[in-house]
Amino acid sequence: MKAVTWQGPRKMSVETVPDPTIQKPDDAIIEVTSTAICGSDLHLYEVMGPFMEPGDIVGHEPMGRVVEAGPNSGLSVGDRVVIPFQIACGSCFFCDRGLQTQCETTQVTETGMGAPLFGYSALYGQIPGGQAEYLRVPHADYGPIAVGDELEDHRYLFLSDVLPTAWQGVAYTGASAGDSLAVMGLGPIGQFVARIAAHQGMQVYAVEPEKERRDMAARHGVEVHDLSDDAVETIREATHGRGVDAVVDAVGMEAHGGAQGVMAKFAQLSAQYAPEKLGQSMMQNAGMDRLAALYSSIELVRRGGTISLSGVYGGQASPLPLLTLFDKQITVRQGQANVKRWVEQILPLVEDDADPLGVDDFVTHTLPLEDAPGAYETFQKKEDGCIKVVLKPQS
Ligand SMILES: NC(=O)c1ccc[n+]([C@@H]2O[C@H](COP(=O)([O-])OP(=O)(O)OC[C@H]3O[C@@H](n4cnc5c(N)ncnc54)[C@H](O)[C@@H]3O)[C@@H](O)[C@H]2O)c1
Ligand SMILES: [Zn+2]
Ligand SMILES: [Zn+2]
Repeated sequence: MKAVTWQGPRKMSVETVPDPTIQKPDDAIIEVTSTAICGSDLHLYEVMGPFMEPGDIVGHEPMGRVVEAGPNSGLSVGDRVVIPFQIACGSCFFCDRGLQTQCETTQVTETGMGAPLFGYSALYGQIPGGQAEYLRVPHADYGPIAVGDELEDHRYLFLSDVLPTAWQGVAYTGASAGDSLAVMGLGPIGQFVARIAAHQGMQVYAVEPEKERRDMAARHGVEVHDLSDDAVETIREATHGRGVDAVVDAVGMEAHGGAQGVMAKFAQLSAQYAPEKLGQSMMQNAGMDRLAALYSSIELVRRGGTISLSGVYGGQASPLPLLTLFDKQITVRQGQANVKRWVEQILPLVEDDADPLGVDDFVTHTLPLEDAPGAYETFQKKEDGCIKVVLKPQS
């Protein structure tokens, strides 16, 4: 079969690889009909390189039809399914608590990480991913989300990652109707964070440097701001000078430089209060700019408010302004989305004819699998109005 493989930093290529086969009784093989490229795939593209091996099959947002069902998979040939990006058992201590990303049965103990993820590096189990014609799905008795035949793929596809991630991002803030919420970043995750929060009756503000992404969110009733110090100030003013009740950071470690005033303020603070040498090495080495969106979030949230991190941050030595976090009494919640925990609440919304989350206005590029390498580049560089790419392996 054909599959998108990692070959080196910024180098994806479509290769012919062996077809996957059933290895355990609860496995299933699906023929992939749609499979999306995620902002998280861009981390593999660059910063996660050390955990990748040339030839690794990438991709973790697939859906399709079952073509082979293991005897204990509970599936039948022909079933139409969406595959969550994580592999969980559904019946352990953590799965019982809605923490499928921490599944005790499947945890990647060799690297000390949580549940394995499709197509997401040796850190997460080196499981062949879903940007391919076929995919082996382990623990298929639990993960796959069965969907009907009536609606097109794009209505269901984002149950694999984007929608539950955005849903959890909002849920973890604890905010509700009437509260104010700011979302940093309007990539695929931020788009749905903003729409879900608005759908739940919150006052939503968004900050994003790319015009096309702001325009898309504005079409869904979101108040959008370009990335600047003014954005932080304007949103604070709109919230009685206190700041918003909640912030969802949907940017992560590939943030752009960000609001310079905010960065300077924290840089000054950390230099002032950290021992001199530590202060210097923090600013020189630990890359505060990588944390630009997080710093803006800390600035933007009101005292006693909550920051929910959907964006992924790496590095063990990221400098955080603990003094400010403590003094403002800020709650921080984060983590990979526990997909199956939220599906029941989201499914009726994507099946609703009225399309309340606007799933019909999301995908900007639909391409054959062969075009994946170029699509990664276009998505990463945010060219050609690219917001979400869906690959069609069977076309
Ligand atoms: N928690 C999870 O389970 C989960 C799942 C999927 C993705 N993610 C993570 O969510 C993040 C976003 O993913 P995405 O697919 O939307 O990717 P993306 O890279 O397309 O989106 C990031 C957006 O942030 C904007 N941005 C950059 N710097 C900014 C700044 N300083 N302030 C405001 N906006 C800024 C970019 O222009 C871009 O539009 C990534 O870190 C990804 O790894 C997490
Ligand atoms: Zn994803
Ligand atoms: Zn489990």
